This record gives sequence, structure tokens and C-alpha cells, in this order.
Amino acid sequence: MPVRLGWSGKSEKDRSVAATHEHAETQATRRDFIYIATGAVGVVGTTAALWPFVSQLAPDQATLAAGAPVEVDIAPIPVGQEIKIFWRGKPIYIRHRTPEEIKAAEDVDVASLKDPQPDSDRVKPGKAEWLVITGICTHLGCVPLGYQGEYKGWFCPCHGSVYDTSGRIRQGPAPTNLPLPPYAFQSDTRIVVG
Ligand code: FES
Repeated sequence: MPVRLGWSGKSEKDRSVAATHEHAETQATRRDFIYIATGAVGVVGTTAALWPFVSQLAPDQATLAAGAPVEVDIAPIPVGQEIKIFWRGKPIYIRHRTPEEIKAAEDVDVASLKDPQPDSDRVKPGKAEWLVITGICTHLGCVPLGYQGEYKGWFCPCHGSVYDTSGRIRQGPAPTNLPLPPYAFQSDTRIVVG
């Protein structure tokens, strides 16, 4: 039974939420990074009216430790923004990619990559706008930051690894692409991670 992450702003019965919003502004677009701590209790913080609350049915700690699947409502994530959830204690980025981000990822000469992998192998068929990756740098395990670095994918501040909009390693010491967690679409607006 997956843990459900909702976005309605209403608390769900006897369980509560943990969510932290962060956002970074670029000249053109505000990026909201939403941090959903599946194991914590209570609203940790909010910054943007766009995301008043994130609510979920939180499992007990034992269930979390066992790695219960996490169900996420992705409908409220605007194009050009991403959220971060936690599954099995790992940060998982869910990015709603723009057509430009998709094109940049698809136009790369795959043979030129350190860890050659076409973008189509990193998204679900027909769902190129959604990229779901594990946010752990493959160098030494830091959490890379979204929308930073030359390719506006992710940038790892620890030793400078740069990932593109497909989460593939493009510069720096990381040896491989950001991993893909197991996930599936339940519908056009819901995914289950795990
Ligand atoms: S841990 Fe990311 S570059 Fe070293």
C-alpha cells in the first residue's frame, strides 16, 4: 500500500506532513524546490503561496524503514519546476521538464557521454516531460542542486560534478549518471516511487 503524498493543503485525517519549501529565483522563472520529508511529522516550513502545504498520509517509522512505496500527486508541479521527496531515506527529484529541457537532453550525442545513455532510456515512454531521479551524486554521495551548472540540470557543490537535464554526468568527477529509482505512473497525474 503506497504512502500517498497529496497537495491539497488539507491535513489527511490522523496523519500529518512534513514539507519544506525552498525556492531559487532566476531572472526569468522562479524555481520552487519542495522538500517532503516522509518520515517527519508536522509542517516544517513554507515559503511560497503557490505551495501552501503538502500533505500526506505518513506511515509509521517501521513502515518507512521498510521502504514503503510513496505515491505522489504530480499534477501541481508546474512545467519548469521540480520537487524533492524522500524514499527509503534517499532524495528523489521529480522534475516537470520544459520542451527546451527535453530537447537539450535528446539532442546530445550519446556517444560523447561519460556514461552513455539516451534520454529516452531515462524517462517513461510518452512521459518525456517527467524526469524522476535519485538525487545522490555518484561521486561521493552529496545531494546535487537543481537548475544549476552549465546544463541547468543539477550541480554537485561538493566537487563540482555537473549533470544535464536528463541527470547524466557531463562534467566533474562523478563516474556515472544520477540513478533512476523504481517508479511507475498510476495515472497522468500520479506516480508511485518504490
Ligand atoms: S560528491 Fe558530488 S562531485 Fe563529489
